[in-house]
Amino acid sequence: MSGALWRPVPQVVRDERLPAAVRIHEVGPRDGLQAEPDLVPTGVKVELCRRLVAAGNSSLEVTSFVPPRWVPQLADAAEVLAALGETPGTRRTVLVPNVRGLEAALAAGVPDVAVVVSATASFAAANLNSTVTGALERAVDVVHRARREGVTVRGYVSMAFGDPWEGPVAGPRVTALAGALLDAGCRVVALGDTTGVATPAHVVARVGDLRATGVDPGRIALHLHDTYGQGLANVHAALLAGVTEFDSSLGGLGRCPYAPGATGNLATEDLVWMLHGLGIGTGLDLDGLVRASAWLAAHLGRRLPTRVGNALAPHLAPATPTQDSPRRAGG
Ligand code: HMG
Ligand code: MG
Repeated sequence: MSGALWRPVPQVVRDERLPAAVRIHEVGPRDGLQAEPDLVPTGVKVELCRRLVAAGNSSLEVTSFVPPRWVPQLADAAEVLAALGETPGTRRTVLVPNVRGLEAALAAGVPDVAVVVSATASFAAANLNSTVTGALERAVDVVHRARREGVTVRGYVSMAFGDPWEGPVAGPRVTALAGALLDAGCRVVALGDTTGVATPAHVVARVGDLRATGVDPGRIALHLHDTYGQGLANVHAALLAGVTEFDSSLGGLGRCPYAPGATGNLATEDLVWMLHGLGIGTGLDLDGLVRASAWLAAHLGRRLPTRVGNALAPHLAPATPTQDSPRRAGG
């Protein structure tokens, strides 16, 4: 029989073992754009943030204050923040690698910063020009100073599941680093699967290790790259293990330029489809996300990795700009 096609939506089948709501921390404007081959115009970055806010985002990693030599793609961090302005209802976070970055974030009036350490010596050297211990000391300095200034801090432990140079990473190392960041005053620590190698029981084990040291699951987040297609399975396992905060990137963009073999973060649209299907609240409007993702794909001039975004976009009318119409990337 032929006729009008069903407009696909997640069919809600609630699993009572899972939480009623979770927090999604959107890293698209930072992790998503930090390794783009072409510089994305400031106006496009700002419009991307506005579209995410309009789609109901409550936690947004807008950019990073790192030396432009290290990440030229985000050299316009101050301009992006100034143009974006305050975003009531959406907490703006900026990644800072050191106190100098924190000072820039304070000057920009950002209420939340993120610090990053590495569980491996190789990635500490490649990404932070430091040792594991040196990077932790630097991060703890930032946390202490930020807390004195009334700024909340998110911690990342990168290479928490595996490392492109060193292979498997010992769990106790990750637990110790995450514990040190939490003790220093981080609100939450995100375990970073920087190259996407984790599998579900591995995630449960890491979360269990931390919980065994007395860490409340509300202080554990997961930052999953989807390189090996394990992202959603890992989220589901983590939900069962009590985690309620997940990072994702609109369209599935993203990777660290200093992590060989890394690809994009778990796509926000894919994550939201699964969570809404499970009856878990996110506060996000899936259609708004899909329109924003289609708009971004048009600006970047290529199809993005998101499966849900690509499947749903043809069912939706195109997005309207939230303010000024941004120029095409590179234009
Ligand atoms: P360094 O080169 O050792 O830094 O880098 P330095 O302290 O020697 O300073 C070098 C120059 O940079 C100096 O300028 C400083 O003033 C300047 P010069 O005297 O040569 O003219 N400088 C700065 N400029 C602007 N902003 C600053 C700043 N700091 C110093 N904040 C450093 C050390 C830690 C700074 C560097 O290694 C760095 O920035 N690393 C971060 C690289 C990065 O952003 N990577 C991607 C983000 S992390 C990620 O993606 C992983 C994550 O997603 C989780 C996961 O997936 O696992 C979070
Ligand atoms: Mg990342």
